[in-house]
Amino acid sequence: MNAPTSRRILVTSALPYANGQIHLGHLVEYIQTDIFVRFQKLRGHDAVYLCADDTHGTAIMIRARAEERSERDLIAAMREDHLKDFAGFDIEFDHYGSTDSDANRRLCGEIWRSLRDKGLVVSRDVKQLFDPKAGVFLADRFVRGTCPRCKAADQYGDACEKCGATYSPADLVDPVSTLSGATPEIRSAEHLFVQLEPMQGFLREWTKNSGALDPRIANYLAGHFLGEPLRDWDISRPAPYFGFEIPDAPGHYWYVWFDAPIGYVAATDEWATARGGSWKEWWHRGAGEPAAEIHHFIGKDITYFHTLFWPAMLEAAGLALPTKVRIHGFLTVNGEKMSKSRGTFLLARTYLDHLDPACLRYYYAAKLSGNIDDIDLNLEDFAAKVNSDLVGKVVNLASRTARWLEGAGLSETYPNDGGLFAQGAVDGAEIAAAYDECDFARAMRLVMAAADRANAYVDAEQPWKLAKAGPESAERLRDVATVALNLFRQIVVYLAPVLPELATETGALVGGPIRSWEESRHPLTGVAVAPFKPLARRVEAAQLEALVAASKPATPPSAPSSPSSPSNPSSSGNASVTTDPAEPLAAEPLAPQCTIDDFTKIDLRVARILAAEEVPEAKKLLKLTVSLGGEERRTVFAGIKGFHDPAALVGRLVVVVANLAPRQMKFGLSEGMVVAASGAGATGVYLLSPDSGALPGMRLH
Ligand code: 2FM
Ligand code: ZN
Repeated sequence: MNAPTSRRILVTSALPYANGQIHLGHLVEYIQTDIFVRFQKLRGHDAVYLCADDTHGTAIMIRARAEERSERDLIAAMREDHLKDFAGFDIEFDHYGSTDSDANRRLCGEIWRSLRDKGLVVSRDVKQLFDPKAGVFLADRFVRGTCPRCKAADQYGDACEKCGATYSPADLVDPVSTLSGATPEIRSAEHLFVQLEPMQGFLREWTKNSGALDPRIANYLAGHFLGEPLRDWDISRPAPYFGFEIPDAPGHYWYVWFDAPIGYVAATDEWATARGGSWKEWWHRGAGEPAAEIHHFIGKDITYFHTLFWPAMLEAAGLALPTKVRIHGFLTVNGEKMSKSRGTFLLARTYLDHLDPACLRYYYAAKLSGNIDDIDLNLEDFAAKVNSDLVGKVVNLASRTARWLEGAGLSETYPNDGGLFAQGAVDGAEIAAAYDECDFARAMRLVMAAADRANAYVDAEQPWKLAKAGPESAERLRDVATVALNLFRQIVVYLAPVLPELATETGALVGGPIRSWEESRHPLTGVAVAPFKPLARRVEAAQLEALVAASKPATPPSAPSSPSSPSNPSSSGNASVTTDPAEPLAAEPLAPQCTIDDFTKIDLRVARILAAEEVPEAKKLLKLTVSLGGEERRTVFAGIKGFHDPAALVGRLVVVVANLAPRQMKFGLSEGMVVAASGAGATGVYLLSPDSGALPGMRLH
């Protein structure tokens, strides 16, 4: 069979938001994409995997304020965390950029000009809720109030969780900004829109006939959006906004969903420029030979953006359209949505603290069929599958035969194996086709069938008996082990896109690095075999229990994060010994001993600061409105004036003494106390922050 013709394949995953940690739900996509790219590279294609952090928007701006740091400082810290997590799972990007880059700003400008030149940009006033205290326009999720239909309290600005009604935030009864607790005002502001209706003909044709979409997705789009006039797309946000200011519309910023997909092109630009090329070789129509393929891997929740807005923008700008938009479903854990309280909201970092990344990569591969169905990570099934397939079938092949070849190496000629290796080589074409279609589950089934055949061979030949039989069986033993190790290596070539680490270790055991799919086609003979080292470990129930326990909010997974790096739950936060004060207790002696009963009388709770304002007449006090969750609000006068900027406190979690008797002060009633640290001779007053995952109302024990 001829080697496949080389293709040029540009592959992306959705850009993760910079305001959250990577969790196992995200990894469904990154692992899937990484497997696809590794497979294409192993086949000899010119494949490139590009991604970036999605950094702009109101959420980052608000969080940076709450953490008293700049947005750029925050996104730099998050980037580091994301990269560590991805590397921990062997996800190998060719380039990982940021939407907050010079390349992205420039490319946004270029695409914007194309849209303007085509007359697709229009402007009109939009009424939106504005938080007068925080000074920002409010996205729907930052407004809560009473549902206008069923009157359920504490509902989001766009939809009621109780009765399912959808509405505009302006329709909410008694709306409250979750940023500051203020009553939002309706304000009008100019927004810029991209008209999509002129692109309707193109979108109908492209979604139906380009081959980029699964026909079920194309039908869904035809039935839900393309049958009627397409609404203009609101592409700008007024200041303040963290993003790129629109060059020809000062005071207006491109909405995050405008600059995010352009981040794919910007990442190409940075990557290509670094190797002396140009992004145009990939994104200009017809440029380069052969023409580049563009594959976007995305979750089903962002289908609309990638199958309507993004192709419309590319078409208007005259750029290459996606070859494939590969859409996957969500992850459930133990059959349910991931849940913090059940300990199934599993962060990448927490998983890596307890388990081998290869296990998750294999489990996801065994579940992913290249369609939009959700996949479930059932933890019991996860352990059973990894233990039976990876440990029991694949690695077992090497662990029970490699040691007999340590001195002699593989037989000089490949023994008669009854056609097993040849059968495996033929299967390679079907396995490759399954990978290419992203039907990894099928690929894994075929590989495990090959492993079953190989194990049946070893069981039948009983090499352990040959080993005991003495020198006259030595040659036969070497032949049997040679067959088993070759079948093992062939299987590992097929698994290399999923299990790159196993491929590396297998290369070190026998035959050198696995660099090409073609290595599955010819058995090795006469080469040395290194001493066998364990290649995989069983997943134990205790590891899973520890993972779940560490993922529950009440049992923080790692050392507490410091307020300056709350985005990093794994940062150590340990103060170095030399900087700790020598004798703080001498300056402030401990209070008399108390009993546990004394302690439990004090009800310490996590609270979120909803509003913070100066008390002009008081030297030390800030007036805080804190939420204990739901409708539970308290007003607290806290002696932290001068140490904290009130605006930056809004949104932050603190600890309050929630059952302190209310105290009438000159400025109003104080209904609790915010816990803060200070010391004799210290210059600051330091608020306590719980670990990430804590929620308003939680009790401190
Ligand atoms: O949904 C999300 O997580 C977005 N940050 C994905 C952006 S993908 C692309 F358009 F950049
Ligand atoms: Zn309702």
